[in-house]
Amino acid sequence: MTPPPSPAPHSPGAFPRVRPRRLRSTPAMRRLAAQTTLAPAQLVLPLFVREGATEPLPIGSMPGQVQHSRDSLRAEVVRAAEAGLGGVMLFGVPVTRDATGSAACRADGILNQALADVVAEVGDAVVVQADLCLDEFTDHGHCGVLDAHGRVDNDATLEQYRAMALAQAEAGAHLLGLSGMMDGQVAAVRDALDGAGHHDVALLAYAAKYASAFYGPFRDAVESTLVGDRRTYQLDPANRREGVREALLDVAEGADVVMVKPAMSYLDVLADVAAASEVPVWAYQVSGEYAMVEAAAAHGWIDRRRAVEESVLSIRRAGADAVLTYWALELAGWLREDVR
Ligand code: PBG
Repeated sequence: MTPPPSPAPHSPGAFPRVRPRRLRSTPAMRRLAAQTTLAPAQLVLPLFVREGATEPLPIGSMPGQVQHSRDSLRAEVVRAAEAGLGGVMLFGVPVTRDATGSAACRADGILNQALADVVAEVGDAVVVQADLCLDEFTDHGHCGVLDAHGRVDNDATLEQYRAMALAQAEAGAHLLGLSGMMDGQVAAVRDALDGAGHHDVALLAYAAKYASAFYGPFRDAVESTLVGDRRTYQLDPANRREGVREALLDVAEGADVVMVKPAMSYLDVLADVAAASEVPVWAYQVSGEYAMVEAAAAHGWIDRRRAVEESVLSIRRAGADAVLTYWALELAGWLREDVR
């Protein structure tokens, strides 16, 4: 039996019966029909803390963002908790750096001190997260230690990551963000944490982290010393399938959450990873994405609030359960206004 022909949506001379515009007719109708939502709990705020800073220092390439002092960081994390954000992600900017990034692994290193400060202040009211990577702490600026030929040594780096993870867990971090893109980093860190009884510290794997020009402003923010690039460890922007491969490997190694980074230029990868992953998938709207919108808005070329909201909503729509964004606090404030 052949099914009866479906009625033509629009026969010549007649008015259309099928009118998608009905669901767009009023704000209330649009709200009811919206498939994707935004809430403060889905936002994570990245924050920088600079060793020795006595007041917040503006970051030129990221207007509105600062390098915090230990005190101003504490206050900002309290605001994040009060706003109901999902979490904060801390990055440390040390004063001295060395070949192995040793300050990353010491309790008196700036990032570990800041973690302890923040956890003492807010407890577990907000998920306190730490960037687990050596690039801010090495004098050469790479995410790992170098071998005799100056190449990033994967397995020697894993030993440093294990030590760094223990220092962060001991400082009280709830979740560690593994952003170094070394092979086997999730398994190595999980093993180190479990061996020391830190079973409850969760791991976010920057699973599909691409070698991107959009990290430019961040490198100012952390005063990066990197010469060259990270193309031997971060993903090639040409590769879509490899993003899924990396994410599934990290899940198999024990990642609690996987992430795609940057966000807006990689929404295809994000959608693929979201379809394939059995753990939550996050995305990082990185410094360059932030800076582009801020710069255009400062020129009056774009409606800043609408661009911010649309960009984060698009990242959620593509499949991110949560988004790391420098606009997290401001956006949470707007979301509260919208409810009223
Ligand atoms: C590595 C790290 C980077 C970012 C987050 N973690 C820089 C890099 O890989 O070069 C970039 C974040 C951003 O651009 O906002 N520690």
